[in-house]
Amino acid sequence: MSSARGIAVRSCGIAVPEKVLTNDDLAATLDTNDAWITERTGIKERRIGGTTSSLAAEAASEALRRAGLSAEDIDVLVLATTTPDGIAPATASAVQDLLGMRRVGAFDLNAGCSGFMYGLVVSAGLVATGYERVLLVGVDTLSRITDWTDRTIAVLVGDGAGAVVIEARDGQSNLLSHNLHSDGSLRHLLYCEHGGYLWMDGQEIFRKAVRVVVESAEQALSDAGLEADDIALLVPHQANRRIIQAACQRLKIPEDRTAVVIDRYGNTSSASIPLALADALEAGKISDGDLLLLCGFGAGMSWASAVLRWGS
Ligand code: UT7
Repeated sequence: MSSARGIAVRSCGIAVPEKVLTNDDLAATLDTNDAWITERTGIKERRIGGTTSSLAAEAASEALRRAGLSAEDIDVLVLATTTPDGIAPATASAVQDLLGMRRVGAFDLNAGCSGFMYGLVVSAGLVATGYERVLLVGVDTLSRITDWTDRTIAVLVGDGAGAVVIEARDGQSNLLSHNLHSDGSLRHLLYCEHGGYLWMDGQEIFRKAVRVVVESAEQALSDAGLEADDIALLVPHQANRRIIQAACQRLKIPEDRTAVVIDRYGNTSSASIPLALADALEAGKISDGDLLLLCGFGAGMSWASAVLRWGS
């Protein structure tokens, strides 16, 4: 056990349901249209279906395969989700079983759409206290808590999962800086009661999101001793293309240095950052050693940012 160890993110895997729901599909049953959804959100289509545990296990398997590891090599499973399969046990228990993981720690973490960011920092803490490898999954099936007759929510959500293998690294951590925030007095802006549907005050969240993302991103940059120009890629939570554009503008990071997948997946909550990360990796937009700025925000209201050096 060592207490001064850093982390490296070794691999990334994703899973999305096969079923594609386009804006036109939604317009067939709702008072909405492709032009409104595209212009106001940037979303063209989303994937719908699966369970939180099945998507999580698929993404986790891919991350393990890409790292050349098996489930036995993992010491803790951290699963960030707002939509667990049930209230108890933790969905991580089902995922652990599906993966055939040995009897190591496994638990859920709920920080709304900031779940992956919170999971990243928690994973770094686990590694610092001696665990060798952590499997972090960000997964949500928002479609299951969506009222499909409510056009204000139905056009936004999608299902998916993204997973990363995080491991100990001697010397300087590849997680250069991070910050976590929550303001519980804003929890009424986005919530879902037991057995109910997701509800949000979209306009208010929009306004607050841009401000807090920029603040926490600037804090993460300054804590790492960096400028926006040093960042190879911004990987933001995918809630609305206009929020991403507004944040980019204020941070002075051009959009072509930003990972965007909202057009294909909609808002996948805890899964959106790893989905965007995996897409950028696949497209060859990230090289070993590149500095990434990750930013999340969502229910709580929670928000968080981190600077991560890619590669081992
Ligand atoms: O994951 C983290 C949390 N979530 C977010 O960060 C979401 C943040 N908020 C947003 O992304 C945006 O506020 C929305 C996409 C939710 C809404 O966009 P908006 O530009 O803020 O629209 P709005 O709520 O101001 O509505 C504008 C108009 C209204 O009509 P009137 O009053 O101008 O006649 C709405 O009734 O658009 C209408 N509208 C729609 N029209 C067609 C609302 N939803 C729809 C719809 N299709 N789906």
